[in-house]
Amino acid sequence: MDYVSLNRAAWEERAKAHFDSEFYDVNRFLQGTSSLNPIECELLGDVSGKSLLHLQCHFGLDSLSFARLGAKVTGVDFSTEAITRANTLAQQTRLNASFICLDIAQFGLENTTQFDIVFASYGTICWLQDLSQWAATIARALKPGGQFCLVEFHPSIDLHLGYPYFPQTQPDISEESTYTENHQDSEQTIATWPHSIAEVMQSLMQAGLTITHFDEHPFSPYNCFEGLEAVSGHGFQLLSKGHQVPLLFSILANKAE
Ligand SMILES: C[S@@+](CC[C@H](N)C(=O)[O-])C[C@H]1O[C@@H](n2cnc3c(N)ncnc32)[C@H](O)[C@@H]1O
Repeated sequence: MDYVSLNRAAWEERAKAHFDSEFYDVNRFLQGTSSLNPIECELLGDVSGKSLLHLQCHFGLDSLSFARLGAKVTGVDFSTEAITRANTLAQQTRLNASFICLDIAQFGLENTTQFDIVFASYGTICWLQDLSQWAATIARALKPGGQFCLVEFHPSIDLHLGYPYFPQTQPDISEESTYTENHQDSEQTIATWPHSIAEVMQSLMQAGLTITHFDEHPFSPYNCFEGLEAVSGHGFQLLSKGHQVPLLFSILANKAE
């Protein structure tokens, strides 16, 4: 089965809905606010003047927010609906960003440019079957001395939602509605793969990167899973038997000089 085409069809529909959602609040972004969260901003520090590759950039709000901070941004995503909107937003805001519409595996085969920073966040790796290929794409796309930053939902959430934790070659195929408030009555068929923390770390190390930071976080900035509760000033948490479940993890990994 062609899982990339299956997921692309789902994301074409989701990109249109997400663009009009309160969840993404494009108007607020157009008024000058950043869509980035403190975790990624603190991890990456000053991005001004740096070239930044944003993998699975959706319609580019985070990419363009990095451009607002002075980065020269390239975003990649396989959804034409998302990339069309990202290009329109870049023109409207006159920010230094360009966008490429490609499956990430294909991008890895075609890309010859190297960047200071490669970035991915919040809901990316579950769409990818092969993390070795993903990590190799990242390693090749970094300049010597360059830095990869990943802020991702913690795979322990999967266990709470009834999905497996440990890697498997066959995807979970499910009918699911998306996480934005305006599209919850429509479902798409999607294929996702579980990736344990160990698999993520091992794939990056096997691609030759050195992990310089790893952390786990009890709060999510997004209310996008069942059972989350708001905690003032922190975002959202999930409790299991009264204890906080890790909701995010973050990684920095360097390519040798
Ligand atoms: C949850 S969104 C990313 C979230 C992002 N942080 C945001 O909210 O702006 C996941 C993105 O991955 C993209 N995607 C999924 N599989 C992909 C693939 N194989 N190649 C390229 N992009 C992919 C989707 O089109 C979607 O835009």
